[in-house]
Amino acid sequence: MTTQLSVNLNKIALIRNSREGNYPDVVHHGQICLDAGADGLTVHPRPDQRHIRPEDVMALSELLETKDGIEFNIEGNPHAGATGRYPGFMALVQQARPDQCTLVPDSDDQLTSDHGFDLTRSGEALKPIIAELHDLGCRVSLFMDPDLEQIDLARAVGADRIELYTGPYAAAHKAHNSELDALLDRYRLAASHAREIGLGVNAGHDLNLDNLEQFLHIRGIDEVSIGHALTVDALQMGLAAAVRAYLKICKGH
Ligand code: PXP
Repeated sequence: MTTQLSVNLNKIALIRNSREGNYPDVVHHGQICLDAGADGLTVHPRPDQRHIRPEDVMALSELLETKDGIEFNIEGNPHAGATGRYPGFMALVQQARPDQCTLVPDSDDQLTSDHGFDLTRSGEALKPIIAELHDLGCRVSLFMDPDLEQIDLARAVGADRIELYTGPYAAAHKAHNSELDALLDRYRLAASHAREIGLGVNAGHDLNLDNLEQFLHIRGIDEVSIGHALTVDALQMGLAAAVRAYLKICKGH
């Protein structure tokens, strides 16, 4: 089994938003990623529209409608409602009809996602949302920490997949932390448990060219979504070459 690479385009939009106009063009850069072989594109629209805007979501949805086998993944907090020109997460998903929705428990003022769901608290509220997303034809993935009881609850509330939050792994890897092996064992156990109970397994956050390969040694990761480091690598390597470098790791293990 190889791992699918979904390129997160948030940071391209962030650069675009620092000036008036449409430069760099998010859709054009999405197309470069696809031409380089990416398996899918990811966006994480937020109510403050700090990077991806609703119109980007719709334009990418249109682009991907014509591409067989390429997945569109929209991440975000499903409880984020309409504000200003942001129609709300669920309204946006209803319009864009992505292949996959990755639900994330982040608040509006968070810099970035930094923890998985606590489904003992939020599971009941997610059930009807997951059912609605299924009715729209979306696969539903929940952003989770590598915690077996929580993963059982992800199955119970109707998720199809989990996305393992890899921030702590990336931090331990960078620090050459002595707990890295134990942490990787937790992720390995979480991934194999999820698969045993019928869930697919994605992973994401702070993955980069240094730490991705070791993470994928845990096996059975269906998809990684990568944005920040890949965009930084693209500054040196060019976007197409950066995508190919990540793909080499995803397909090579
Ligand atoms: N997964 C989720 C749920 C995220 O919020 C993000 C960041 O938008 C990512 C994956 C990708 O993280 P990174 O940009 O660090 O690669």
